[in-house]
Amino acid sequence: MNGTVVVLLGPPGSGKGTQAQRLVEVLGTPHVSSGDLFRHHLSEDTDLGQLAKSYMEKGELVPDDVTVKMVMERISRPDCEEGVILDGFPRTLTQAEALKGALSGRGQEVTVVPLIRVGDEEVVRRLTARRVCKECGAVYNLAFNPPEEEGECDVCGGDLYQREDDNPETVQHRLYTYYKETSPLIGYYFAQDRLVEVDGEQPVEQVSEELLEAIHEAKRAS
Ligand code: AP5
Repeated sequence: MNGTVVVLLGPPGSGKGTQAQRLVEVLGTPHVSSGDLFRHHLSEDTDLGQLAKSYMEKGELVPDDVTVKMVMERISRPDCEEGVILDGFPRTLTQAEALKGALSGRGQEVTVVPLIRVGDEEVVRRLTARRVCKECGAVYNLAFNPPEEEGECDVCGGDLYQREDDNPETVQHRLYTYYKETSPLIGYYFAQDRLVEVDGEQPVEQVSEELLEAIHEAKRAS
């Protein structure tokens, strides 16, 4: 991997997936989402998908060993040689150390870690109104960004669905898990001078602009 490695950090619903899809268009690097990889396994009914389901439906993290193995396999593929936008990984200090080790084995390191800050109330509001396209994965929000036709994707016409873990009880538990397991990464990447905070409660376009600025600045400095 010779290019830019961006780690998007932030609570559930902070807009990591939304922003990653926009960054892909500008940077041309692939978007690797650990949540999407697990959901793909689930849709294919693999053993890993079944294992992940038991954690995802409770809003808990899938164990580090299987998560690390799955993501490392993905980012070792040729399309990630020029860089990657990581969304939802790493989520624990163990995962962060595994990523660091894998990158340093190739003479690389994480370029920048934008922390997308969004308050808890906004997270709940967003996630309970989120709808996702079954076909192309486009993300909508019934309150902020509804599709033109109810239940239908503007991009490909596919059916929209609500993720099982987007009910209010599971969202609360995902937030708890974020503060307990993932928030230590804020200090971890701050200490490595990789962290840049972005206000995630601004309009989508504004958040993208600030993310791009942070990424370009980090590339210049590296
Ligand atoms: P995952 O799929 O990664 O979920 P998440 O991190 O909880 O994040 P989300 O996908 O819910 O939100 P997002 O930040 O991408 O927001 P989005 O752009 O969609 O993980 C799911 C589960 O898989 C985990 O709970 C865990 O079990 C497991 N897992 C995954 N990775 C793991 C790992 N590394 N280790 C262990 N287990 C793991 O936006 C949300 C909504 O807000 C949308 O409706 C969108 O339209 C709207 N929106 C976005 N931006 C804005 C804005 N600026 N203004 C208004 N609305 C906005």
